[in-house]
Amino acid sequence: MKKKLVTILGANGQVGSECVRQFGKEFTLNSVTAKMLDNYNTKTITNYLKNLRADIIVNCVSLTNLTQCESNTALANDLNSTLPFAIAKCCPGATIVQLSTDYVFNGMKRTPYTEKDSTYPLNYYGLSKSMGELNLQTHTDKYYIVRTSSLFTSKVSFYGKPNFVFSIIKKLKDGETLKFNDTLTMTPTSTTELVRNIGVIMKQEPDYGIYHCTQEGEATWFDYVQQIADTFHLDKNQIFPIKSYPDSFKRPEYTVLDNTKIRGIEGIRIDDWRNAFNWEFSKYYEGL
Ligand SMILES: NC(=O)c1ccc[n+]([C@@H]2O[C@H](COP(=O)([O-])OP(=O)(O)OC[C@H]3O[C@@H](n4cnc5c(N)ncnc54)[C@H](OP(=O)(O)O)[C@@H]3O)[C@@H](O)[C@H]2O)c1
Repeated sequence: MKKKLVTILGANGQVGSECVRQFGKEFTLNSVTAKMLDNYNTKTITNYLKNLRADIIVNCVSLTNLTQCESNTALANDLNSTLPFAIAKCCPGATIVQLSTDYVFNGMKRTPYTEKDSTYPLNYYGLSKSMGELNLQTHTDKYYIVRTSSLFTSKVSFYGKPNFVFSIIKKLKDGETLKFNDTLTMTPTSTTELVRNIGVIMKQEPDYGIYHCTQEGEATWFDYVQQIADTFHLDKNQIFPIKSYPDSFKRPEYTVLDNTKIRGIEGIRIDDWRNAFNWEFSKYYEGL
């Protein structure tokens, strides 16, 4: 049987590069980067995708830096809201996998958010991602919106975003004191496992719609950084809890996502976040 043609947009990013690593065996891959397509200019990407006629488009492009989203709302709109709309409009036959975020919620709940909960973003990143979801939903029925949270990876992505875990390890090794919020609660999630589960969705073709996909369990950012120190046998006494960050924008307090819906798909695997973290970094314990 002919393999499906899958286009990965944002192929140099954390999620995009993992998609390129994992999907090559089962699909014919076409990796797209900002450099190739005029920084995802709407006209350029529209012409490109129209001619390509991919079966599945996985959109990993996003402005994910919260501060940058606040200071450059036009760019956040272009990448997070307009791009999903442009993709849906020019590729009516394709299935679109759109990556999204726990930050579409306002964080007022204290139990995990389900796909049925209303979105109410508190900052421009969340707002632009939420608009992207809506833009996609109003222009195609053939979508999988996959919302995830606080991704970690042991791999270096080509996009050049600093790797959060490695930067914490370096700071602790250098003897720095770290302050992390112990009220904002989320679920650290393995990029490897997320992408594996996106691959399962693409193969199993469940009903179109929104799917939450994180690890199980929850942590504050303080808990998370303590786990990093534990795993790498570094000094936890250098890490201090704080109640807020000096940001000009709001962050949702509680953004744990409920994975019940995605768990209903055969082949989905979701581990506790601490197990997934230790598995992801096990090969690095000695080297770092
Ligand atoms: N990272 C997380 O913790 C996290 C948490 C929840 C949800 N998500 C969602 O997961 C998806 C992927 O996130 P990620 O962490 O993989 O993002 P990432 O590493 O920052 O990569 C995003 C990609 O977007 C493109 N991009 C970013 N800024 C750009 C700019 N100024 N001009 C043109 N292109 C630009 C780049 O594409 P090229 O590769 O083509 O250069 C980049 O590789 C996003 O939808 C995000 O909302 C991520």
